[in-house]
Amino acid sequence: MTVDEKFGQLQQLPWTWDTGPGGGETKAVEDAARKGMLGSVFSIFGAKTTNALQKIAVEESRLGIPLVFGLDVIHGMWTNFPIPLAQAASFDPEVTAADAEVSAKEARSNGVHWTFAPMMDVTHEPRWGRIAEGSGEDPYLTSAFAAAKVRGYQGEDPKGLKAKDRIAACAKHFVAYGGAEGGRDYNTVDVSESRLRNLYLPPFKAALDAGVATVMASFNTISGVPAHANPHTLTDVLKKEWGFDGLVVSDFTGVKELIAHGFAEDGADAARLSLNAGVDMEMTSTHFVENGKKLLRAGKIEQQRLDDAVYRVLQLKFQLGLFDHPYVEETDEITEPSADARKAARAAAARSMVLLKNEKSVLPLSAKASSIAVVGPFADSADLLGTWVIPASEKKFPAVKVLDAVKKAAPKAKVTYAKGVDAAGKDTGGIGEAVAAAKAADVTVVVVGEPPAISGEAAARSDISLPGAQEKLIEAVAATGKPFVVVLVNGRPLTVGDWLAQAPAVLEAWHPGIEAGHAIADVLFGTVNPGGKLPVSFPRTVGQIPIHYNHESTGRPYDPDNKYTSKYLDLPDGPQFPFGFGLSYTDFTLGEPKLSRSSVAADALRKGDTLEVSVEVRNTGERAGDEVVQLYVHDRAASLTQPVRRLRGFRRVTLEPGKHTTVRFRLGAEDLGFWTNDSHGHFTVEAGAFDLYVGTSSAATAKTGLTVS
Ligand code: BGC
Repeated sequence: MTVDEKFGQLQQLPWTWDTGPGGGETKAVEDAARKGMLGSVFSIFGAKTTNALQKIAVEESRLGIPLVFGLDVIHGMWTNFPIPLAQAASFDPEVTAADAEVSAKEARSNGVHWTFAPMMDVTHEPRWGRIAEGSGEDPYLTSAFAAAKVRGYQGEDPKGLKAKDRIAACAKHFVAYGGAEGGRDYNTVDVSESRLRNLYLPPFKAALDAGVATVMASFNTISGVPAHANPHTLTDVLKKEWGFDGLVVSDFTGVKELIAHGFAEDGADAARLSLNAGVDMEMTSTHFVENGKKLLRAGKIEQQRLDDAVYRVLQLKFQLGLFDHPYVEETDEITEPSADARKAARAAAARSMVLLKNEKSVLPLSAKASSIAVVGPFADSADLLGTWVIPASEKKFPAVKVLDAVKKAAPKAKVTYAKGVDAAGKDTGGIGEAVAAAKAADVTVVVVGEPPAISGEAAARSDISLPGAQEKLIEAVAATGKPFVVVLVNGRPLTVGDWLAQAPAVLEAWHPGIEAGHAIADVLFGTVNPGGKLPVSFPRTVGQIPIHYNHESTGRPYDPDNKYTSKYLDLPDGPQFPFGFGLSYTDFTLGEPKLSRSSVAADALRKGDTLEVSVEVRNTGERAGDEVVQLYVHDRAASLTQPVRRLRGFRRVTLEPGKHTTVRFRLGAEDLGFWTNDSHGHFTVEAGAFDLYVGTSSAATAKTGLTVS
């Protein structure tokens, strides 16, 4: 390979750009492929389209190296599953694996080899729109979902990437992107080494252990050094310490943005800093390819670094089998969701819903109700797919509407509809009609929330309550005195207003994906008993943010009777709804947690010793249902102040009424130790007393003690 051809492999260009396939920019992509000056193309799909472009690379370029095609298949290609945050609420990693398997099959058949997912940015910022793309505020839960999703896309065996129903995954965004100050997208992150390692890095390590083929750098700075030019995170930790030999791709124009960050002087400087720090492939901007040769000649880039980056690109292409099979069978192309895929998406969405309130057993609704009003801006809306949807799929395969699904689920009922208010905007003129519908019905379903356009990337909000006049609609329906249910469709935690006290029942449905309406109806009518739990705390007000269950202890923990403790004068302590919280249509009781032994030596733990925590869970209600049993650890005194509790085990169980089971968790060094603040990381397991909490949310009170000697 010539030096130019080597740098060519490090270039990734977008296909659709602003003009769409066949538009002006695609010509430049084809020319680059022809010259052998292109390694990868993204935002491309379709068997014919990818094959045509591949043919240029394979048959017309000097070396005939195939292109690798990438696409943001985040929670589905044609079959949109619920958004990733919702999936995390299932507390069942099989849910995300199901999404990944369906996605991989649909994408690969469309010529896509590589998805830019899973996103695994732990965040304590509900204002940040991208909270929708991750698994919430906890590194343990996020790690479990990251690993399951990687396996779902790639298969258990990383060598299986050649298969027709697998795609390469991408662990993103590396790293600490979720720490953006104020939740404003792309903003600064200043983070200690210990927090980096205890909070932000674990999901990436879990993804690597699951065999993830690629990693994407993040847009933020990390303590002053942009992630795209950060040798500590990209090379020292990722490539050396963890031994990652896969490909690191930049995010969109992340290399170019080093100039705006005030870190690089110009494009050449940006290329030098980024490549030397460990980025292997440049997405969208073209500084590597434009300046690489000069930088190499000037000794500003080592030949070895260039060859290493090229090796990583070519290795991915070999892993995917592209040298043997560069094309996709056009007759195998999947062009629509299959019945099975829809079924899986419906089950996933229902499994992801969280029952936040249910007084007077308003829920489940009776399918025999004689009249049901369905009101609100999202009642007759197909805008329920959530952020990151393939543009074609949004048009071709809209979400099932709640109104249609309710009609189907209660065929004998008179189902009426009134929009009431728009999703945004101040006009309350339509509320009267919704009130009339509520008055005339046995029960009303009020479907409110956030349009997906205000969640996801570049969608930070400073006010995270229901937009527009939606709260007014709820209050007006409440004033009728008739029973009603609020269904929330949203991409982030919301602050709920006074309406919460007035609403007898609230179901958090998130953005549920293609089968939205049916999945919501499944839960409303009790075909599915809700068992999801919040993967993120719901704050009372924006002023309380950051608020998360795994905060560190202060010297003055909250005390309602002592002013001089850590609190807000104008708010009760804690969030509106805590992490791990969610109700069911049945009741569960947990027994006392039991430990296989009450003390263990730190040395033994380091050598792999483990102990067991077990607890009995019983369905004491009248219907079958799911409970998520959760285990939290608290290290009472350590050489670094520890979180007040940390999730270290969870299990979702299904129990028939009257039945019980014993849930067992294993605890080892990983669960009881932590990373210290040394500049190159040091994991320690310290002697001392630990509290172990077992329960059904992060507010669990049942505890037992453990001594590490
Ligand atoms: C996002 C990435 C995404 C990329 C390619 C960027 O703006 O941050 O998450 O994969 O675009 O579409």
